[in-house]
Amino acid sequence: MRGKGSPCSIYGILACLIVVLAKADNPYRFLTWTVTYGTISPLGVPQQGILINGQFPGPQLDVITNDNLDINVINKLDEPFLLTWNGIQQRKNSWMDGVLGTNCPIPPNGNFTYRFQPKDQIGTYFYFPTTLMHRAAGGFGGMTVFKRVVIPAPYPPLAGDHQALIGDWYKTNHKDLQKMLDMGRPLAFPDGILINGHANGAYFYADPGKTCFIRISNVGLQTTLNFRIQGHKLKLVEVEGSHTIQNVYDSIDVHVGQSYGVLVVADQPPKDYYVVASTRFTDRVLTSTAIFHYRNTNIPLSLPLPPAPTDVEWSINQARSIRWNLTTNAARPNPQGSFHYGLIKPMRRFVLANSAPLINGKLRYAVNEVSYISPETPLKLADWFNIAGVFDFNTFPSVPSGGFARLGTSVVASSLHDYVEIIFQNNENTIQTWHIDGFSFWVVGMGIGQWKSDSWRTYNLVDAVSRHTTQVYPNSWTAIYLSMDNQGMWNARSAMWARQYLGQQLYFRVFSSERSLAREYSIPHNTLLCGRARGMLIS
Ligand SMILES: *[C@@H]1O[C@H](CO)[C@@H](O)[C@H](O)[C@H]1NC(C)=O
Ligand SMILES: *[C@@H]1O[C@H](CO)[C@@H](O)[C@H](O)[C@H]1NC(C)=O
Repeated sequence: MRGKGSPCSIYGILACLIVVLAKADNPYRFLTWTVTYGTISPLGVPQQGILINGQFPGPQLDVITNDNLDINVINKLDEPFLLTWNGIQQRKNSWMDGVLGTNCPIPPNGNFTYRFQPKDQIGTYFYFPTTLMHRAAGGFGGMTVFKRVVIPAPYPPLAGDHQALIGDWYKTNHKDLQKMLDMGRPLAFPDGILINGHANGAYFYADPGKTCFIRISNVGLQTTLNFRIQGHKLKLVEVEGSHTIQNVYDSIDVHVGQSYGVLVVADQPPKDYYVVASTRFTDRVLTSTAIFHYRNTNIPLSLPLPPAPTDVEWSINQARSIRWNLTTNAARPNPQGSFHYGLIKPMRRFVLANSAPLINGKLRYAVNEVSYISPETPLKLADWFNIAGVFDFNTFPSVPSGGFARLGTSVVASSLHDYVEIIFQNNENTIQTWHIDGFSFWVVGMGIGQWKSDSWRTYNLVDAVSRHTTQVYPNSWTAIYLSMDNQGMWNARSAMWARQYLGQQLYFRVFSSERSLAREYSIPHNTLLCGRARGMLIS
């Protein structure tokens, strides 16, 4: 069914491999993505980058809600490779999640076709490589799930839709970064900040007097970034697939792995304005700029740059001000707020505390004193084929135990539809960001110090935003409510990639004893097999 179609010309090189087939229900989109090394020089020094179809960042993946995607990823690197679709809830389909607990990595010169349907998740996402330290070299790109024409959006028609992929960047080769981590050394301070792959000078085009949508995602490795546009306000309308109360901000703190959708009105005297991304919660501040360019003008940029907030309180207050719009639609016919998350009492509570212990003399990162190691056999395959000894459910403590840290393969058993409360307790002096695959969760509270049993009194049980990645401030906690309504094997991890790589992650296995396609899809025929699942029969 693959071929070259006519819609290509308007989209450029990549999309020449897209064919939109007018199938009975939802259209299919076929793409072929070839992953290669290539020389890039975002900080002025040539270095080895990871390209997708020759591009850095990778191609923008624009889809319409409920499209059927068929993305054949061909790995031409010399290392195993996987992509994940950050925040896309693979409904009943953890087979396509693209992390080492769900998928065998695509071997060099191998390929794997991701087949999935982003359902009811209109919003801003990005994809990125999950294996080794590939994310430090590229392989990421923006992903937008657009509404269908018949679905109303809580904002007027737009004159432009832009992706702003911001992130810290290193001149060091990804394999050398990985070697340092393997030796037990922490990731150093980054060398710079990139906006859409450029340290300076990326363009955002604006039509005078009109409103455009800017989709900001922090695709970096470890640093929170503040995003702002000189002389312009940012009206927040969407966070990771949820429509928000439309607050207006001068700038937004974007933590690693998070995505925000803002409206910007080009209502200033026509000229060029600075777009700024600068580091937060760091001793030294790195700043990078891009250009907000009013069309049909040639009046150049002028200083000063808009200032960034400097304190933590500002960021916490902003986080608390971000709320769900209960009356607007999401991609569903019902209003977002029709599930009254705050009226349901969680049946289980987990306290997940991060730490940076030494294990066998080397720096690792851990959750409740367990530092995750990936078995050669993906957990999902071990589960499906009943391969014993890959993981067990009984070793991960649901609260920090305070003992010595150890290595382990943490999997938490959960029943389908369990409603849980998770407290992320951060007793380190650095900011954290946590991401959970497969779900959106309500960020009900944040506070300084230790979470206590009466901390729930400060929770927002009415209109907390539902999202997939949350920050946890230094020496603070963040509480979330989560409905385990998606059967499968799901990764919960630090979005800060060195931390994830060195063990700050675990899996939730959401299960019901009944095997039915209504609950979870069966193993896809093209599943790659590895480890002890090699040679198993897929029926
Ligand atoms: C690899 O690509 C071929 C088409 O070129 C496809 O038929 C095959 O299913 C792909 N392999 C996997 C594991 O998806
Ligand atoms: C919530 O969404 C509704 C419907 O789209 C919109 O009319 C309203 O202005 C929004 N409320 C706020 C406070 O942003």
